Amino acid sequence: MSTIQLRTEIPGPKSKALAERRAKAVPRGLSHGTPIYVAKAEDAWLEDVDGNRYIDFAGGIGCLNMGHRRDEVVDAVRDQLDRFLHTCVQVTPYELYVRLAERMNDVTPGKFAKKTIFVNSGAEAVENAVKIARAYTKRPGIIAFEDAFHGRTMMTLALTSKTHPYKAGFAPFPGEVYRVPFAYCYRCSYSKKYPSCDLYCARHLEDTFKKVVANEEVAAVIAEPVLGEGGFIAPPPDYFEVLVDLCHKYGILFIADEVQSGFGRTGALFASQRYGIEPDILVSAKSLGGGLPLAGVTGRAEVMDAPGVGGLGGTFAGNPLSCAAALAVLDLFEREDLLSRADDIGDHFQRRAREWQCRWPIIGDVRGLGGMQAIELVQSQESKVPATEETKKITQYCYEHGLITITAGTYSNVIRVLVPLVITDQQMDEALGGLESAIADVCDKKGAVAQMV
Ligand SMILES: Cc1ncc(COP(=O)(O)O)c(C=O)c1O
Repeated sequence: MSTIQLRTEIPGPKSKALAERRAKAVPRGLSHGTPIYVAKAEDAWLEDVDGNRYIDFAGGIGCLNMGHRRDEVVDAVRDQLDRFLHTCVQVTPYELYVRLAERMNDVTPGKFAKKTIFVNSGAEAVENAVKIARAYTKRPGIIAFEDAFHGRTMMTLALTSKTHPYKAGFAPFPGEVYRVPFAYCYRCSYSKKYPSCDLYCARHLEDTFKKVVANEEVAAVIAEPVLGEGGFIAPPPDYFEVLVDLCHKYGILFIADEVQSGFGRTGALFASQRYGIEPDILVSAKSLGGGLPLAGVTGRAEVMDAPGVGGLGGTFAGNPLSCAAALAVLDLFEREDLLSRADDIGDHFQRRAREWQCRWPIIGDVRGLGGMQAIELVQSQESKVPATEETKKITQYCYEHGLITITAGTYSNVIRVLVPLVITDQQMDEALGGLESAIADVCDKKGAVAQMV
């Protein structure tokens, strides 16, 4: 039986009524990808207030790798609900926090001694990673990448690349942030091709130290091992090894922002493992909390201990309910083979998307790592002009036909797959069928308009 079940026009009457209330009560700055109001969700599907059922390819932006409302996660939270909700770990600490830190120290890449702190969001974790790196190195500079996204707080906006809608109008940002091109091979900043480029973009950091910022002024280089909001860009396999070696040559820390690429998304618990690197500091969030707000900063013990007592923390940081959920998430990853499932999902998507690429010139690039997959849409495969409007139309067609997708990319022309890894093959086929129909609909209409002109 089909998972997708549509009973009303989309959006239905109850969702429309809520949209009117929202417009009066909530600022427009908080955007929404769909006009659908959710009533409940399980595994890889969700149901709206009008009783329409959708397959969820977004997973709350990658927060539900283990599925919506996993029994184990819900039970762990329920159990904790009966004990205590909040004490503040800086006032009266609890064992859950310590146990979760120990588990994170074990599962993150690198055999060296590690320590972990927990905070509430990805952005807060990145802020803390920067504080810790500066405290340890006693240097101010941070190097970030073009097309990067690290959050919406002021420091993380300074690190984030995309101007609209994230940065425009919010300046000034904190200083000492320097930006260099990423390994976005489809649109290489240096017009080179991998592998003949010999990873010029990574090696170019040496030049940055001569022309932009002195290496002895740089505390850390921060990178997403696979760009998330920037368009699911997975650099070549040897890229990070070269980059991290260069950092270490100059006493610079490497921070991996695994907020989106982490927790099994790419077929390893962390994408850093797929690249064979051991970050000095690793930031995790999203699926760590199984649907509850939680983020972690894990790093070399001596680096993490650089800030003085009281220099790190926050009232709700490492909330007991979120810690309980995260421990259940880690158990799930140990017990179930979600990592191979991520690879299967990636292969399944790639097979279909490559067929679309042969059929429709709008599919410029098909890319990703494990279950972190995307298509980049262009006006033509030769021009590579971003097909931003068409991308919007495809996602609209998708939700109107029962599939929740989200876009990404500096040019908002990427459709990404962040489906819960518990999706069945049948649901995956149904979802990809929906996406294929959406592409066909938009391309065929576009063709018809072109003929009329
Ligand atoms: C790579 C990356 N870093 C940081 C963030 C910010 O996380 P949050 O929205 O939890 O603050 C995000 C959010 O999408 C992200 O993808």
